[in-house]
Amino acid sequence: MERTLVLFKPDAVQRGLVGKILSRFEEKGLKIVGLKMRVFPEELLRTHYEVHKQRPFFEGLVKFMGSSPVVALALEGKDAITTTRTLMGETNCAKSAPGTIRGDFGMSFSHNLVHGSDGPDTAKSELALWFADPAEVCEWTPQQTTWVYDVEEEL
Ligand code: RTP
Ligand code: MG
Repeated sequence: MERTLVLFKPDAVQRGLVGKILSRFEEKGLKIVGLKMRVFPEELLRTHYEVHKQRPFFEGLVKFMGSSPVVALALEGKDAITTTRTLMGETNCAKSAPGTIRGDFGMSFSHNLVHGSDGPDTAKSELALWFADPAEVCEWTPQQTTWVYDVEEEL
C-alpha cells in the first residue's frame, strides 16, 4: 500500500467542487487517511513548491495557494501515487482528458484544481510536511477493503 498527498487548491474550494472532487478519489477506492482544511501558512507553501522556486510562476503560485482555504488529503491505496495522478489528468486543464478531474472541471493551466505527489520520494516528504502531526493521520480499515481489492492476489 502506498500513501500520497493531495491538495484541493483554492479554485476548487471557491468553486464549490470539494465534494465532487473528493468523490472521485473515494469512489475509485482510495482510502482517506487524513483530511483538513485551512489557509495554510506561506512558509509551508514555499517549502512545498521549493522545487519551482527559480521558475517565473513561483511567487504567483505561492500567492494563489495562500489566497483562500485549501483542503489537504492523505490518501492510501495500491499504487496510490500513480492512480491519483491519473485521476487528476495532466497539468494544463485545457488539455486534460475528459473523465479526469482537471479535464472535467477546469480550463486553466495555473488554476488547475488539484495537486498530487508525483513520486514515492515527494509523497513521503510532502506527507511529512502537510501531515507532520501523526495524530492527524488515521489508521483504519474500511469495511469494503476486501471488495475493492482481490484478497488472494492484491492484499
Ligand atoms: P502539482 O504539482 O500542483 O500537482 O501539478 P503538476 O505536477 O501537474 O505540475 P508542476 O509542473 O509540478 O507545477 C506545479 C503547479 O504550478 C502551476 N504552474 N503554473 N503558469 C505556469 O506556467 C505554471 N506552470 C506550473 C500549476 O498550478 C501546477 O500545478
Ligand atoms: Mg508537481
